[in-house]
Amino acid sequence: MRKSTQAILPMHSALTACLAKPVPCQQQASPVRCRSMSKLSNSRLALRSNEFLDSSRNSSAGTAANSGNGSNGNSSLERERTRSVTSYYNQSAIDAAAKKNSVRLTPASLLYSGRATDENYVLRSAQYLQKELPVRIAHRIDDFRSLPFIIGCNPTILSVHELYIRAFHILSDYPTVTNLAEEEQYSGVVRQLLDDHKDVVTMLAEGFRECSRHIRDPHLVRQFLDKTLTSRLGIRLLCEHHLALRQERPDFVGVVCTRFCPGDLIDSRAAHVAKLCQMKYGLAPAVKINGNRKAAFSYIIQPVEYIVTEVLKNAFRATVEHNRAKVGSLPEVTITVANNDVDFIIRFSDRGGGIAHDIATSIFEYHFSTSGKHSDENESFFDRVSESRSVGPMHGFGFGLPTSRAYAHYLGGRLTFETMQGVGSDFYLRLRHIDGKGDSFRI
Ligand SMILES: Nc1ncnc2c1ncn2[C@@H]1O[C@H](COP(=O)(O)OP(=O)(O)O)[C@@H](O)[C@H]1O
Ligand SMILES: [Mg+2]
Repeated sequence: MRKSTQAILPMHSALTACLAKPVPCQQQASPVRCRSMSKLSNSRLALRSNEFLDSSRNSSAGTAANSGNGSNGNSSLERERTRSVTSYYNQSAIDAAAKKNSVRLTPASLLYSGRATDENYVLRSAQYLQKELPVRIAHRIDDFRSLPFIIGCNPTILSVHELYIRAFHILSDYPTVTNLAEEEQYSGVVRQLLDDHKDVVTMLAEGFRECSRHIRDPHLVRQFLDKTLTSRLGIRLLCEHHLALRQERPDFVGVVCTRFCPGDLIDSRAAHVAKLCQMKYGLAPAVKINGNRKAAFSYIIQPVEYIVTEVLKNAFRATVEHNRAKVGSLPEVTITVANNDVDFIIRFSDRGGGIAHDIATSIFEYHFSTSGKHSDENESFFDRVSESRSVGPMHGFGFGLPTSRAYAHYLGGRLTFETMQGVGSDFYLRLRHIDGKGDSFRI
């Protein structure tokens, strides 16, 4: 009973409990707490600079640690430990920002206000980001703090937590932008942060895989990952929209493409996936696109591109693995595009043998994968899946479908499937138009 309570104890209360009565590690009643605390202070997450700390760093908790009656070695250990812990929780600026609501924009409002030619729009967009980004990042930090203690202490997950804290302070301490020269500098900071955070999905995948045996409530982790990944998508879209406003690009207003053609996107992603598939298996199926092949309308490409790529990779893999032993050419993967006033639908049909009954309910779970061992055992998980590599992985990390489904929901749509065991599967991506009838999603 006691053990399970500790395992699900949210980080905040567990750490507060540790701070309330600092005692040397070997005297602590709970071995779980002791191990976790030393891991925390030893981790690369011991915060690296004062910029993470606000004025309350010399808190009563710090004083309490100083008054500990252990030897010099012990008390300096406690001090170090306490400082790294207080730096996570004595963050009044983060607490204040986390209490605010975020202001979400419709893609249509990005599209129409972004058309404004006066440079004041760029300035207003920067000022919106200045207010909005710290609030959204503070909400995410709040979620990291609410993770079960044993999960939140994982060094890789703590690294991401730290990245968010760092971004929060950089952005919220930034002086208000009042002219275009300042806006340019601010945009440079935003661009750098986008780059610093580009591997966050990979790191979260690695972190949660490392502590998977401690996960008692998969629902909680699913919720955390859905929220973190979709919120990250929204933050990146807002940033990229702002950065793109200054660029003259035909058929684009910021991040919104005014002539998005799903058929063309599928064509180019299929060529990319075919290359990956060739490298992995030495062969790849052909792709046939039918339906409203030429349909074009306003939409935001990035999330659709991600989903299309992931679903295509799965269809290619299933097709090759199911038909490899057969003589003759591989059955093609057929993609059908439908478009109407309300929404557009993409159906991916493969002859990859379908999805067995016993796993059909698991394929949207994070980390669920039927791919076997990875080809190069010497490569780290991070190297294998890093987004910064030019050629991504074909499969194997069990993030493709759950992330795609979370993105589809974020866009106000859905990703579903039908499967015919022994024959093949159909995946359906259905998304509402951003300037059609009815409400669209908000970024
Ligand atoms: N078209 C498909 N045909 C058969 N199985 C599929 C198909 N799409 C997905 N799956 C199953 O769903 C699992 C999870 O997919 P995904 O989340 O993309 O992770 P990964 O591709 O890394 O294994 C796959 O390992 C596979 O077993
Ligand atoms: Mg996949």
